[in-house]
Amino acid sequence: MNKETIHVFDAYGTLFDIDSACRNLEKELGSDWNKLSTIWRQKQLEYSWLRNSMNKYISFWEITKNALDYAMKVLEIKNKNIKIKLLDLYFKIESYKEVYKFLTKLKKLNYKTCILSNGSLDMLNAAIKNSNLEKIIDKVISVEKCKRFKPSKEVYKLIIDEFNVKKEEVIFFSSNSWDIHGASNFGLKTVWVNRQKKTDDYLPGMANYEVRSLEQFYINYSKEQNLQLEI
Ligand code: 2OP
Repeated sequence: MNKETIHVFDAYGTLFDIDSACRNLEKELGSDWNKLSTIWRQKQLEYSWLRNSMNKYISFWEITKNALDYAMKVLEIKNKNIKIKLLDLYFKIESYKEVYKFLTKLKKLNYKTCILSNGSLDMLNAAIKNSNLEKIIDKVISVEKCKRFKPSKEVYKLIIDEFNVKKEEVIFFSSNSWDIHGASNFGLKTVWVNRQKKTDDYLPGMANYEVRSLEQFYINYSKEQNLQLEI
């Protein structure tokens, strides 16, 4: 990969751990914490896709709150304090352990780094600050700019416009296969960070690489390109 290749990362599920909010409240939630997290995430995504097709954009933070209300109703969790704590935890969501070291390594190798996310800028900046990533993320792009959610082509085009580059100069990382298909369908090279060994979706486009972690990508890639990248 040449030095001009811009490394663009999805946020939630790729850099930031979408289960961390509910996991941190395991004491209050009990064994339901995982089910709550799963329903919350699925509904958050469904609302973004449905609002795309209804042409009814609202901020991803509003969608995240609506999805939590839905998930808590399904599991009959009525405690308002739990909702407040979960939203606070999600707003500054934890990153995966490997992220800081991996992005630091990329910056040492002079690659440009960027986040492209459905998240609103306030959500993303809070998460970046909470994980001390400010100095190793060069640019943060939110769909607020185009008022469409992934996997609409307009979203991935934001990268091309922001950096004034060609599609070939970008590599896109996401843990969400539907997001990988969206980016590939737009014409970007893609890395599916398939942490939980999920089944791929039957959608247009493809993953050029599939790995179980961010660092695995560079371990595999450096062998392929004889680069000495110790991660
Ligand atoms: C994103 O960060 C929702 O994970 C998706 O855009």
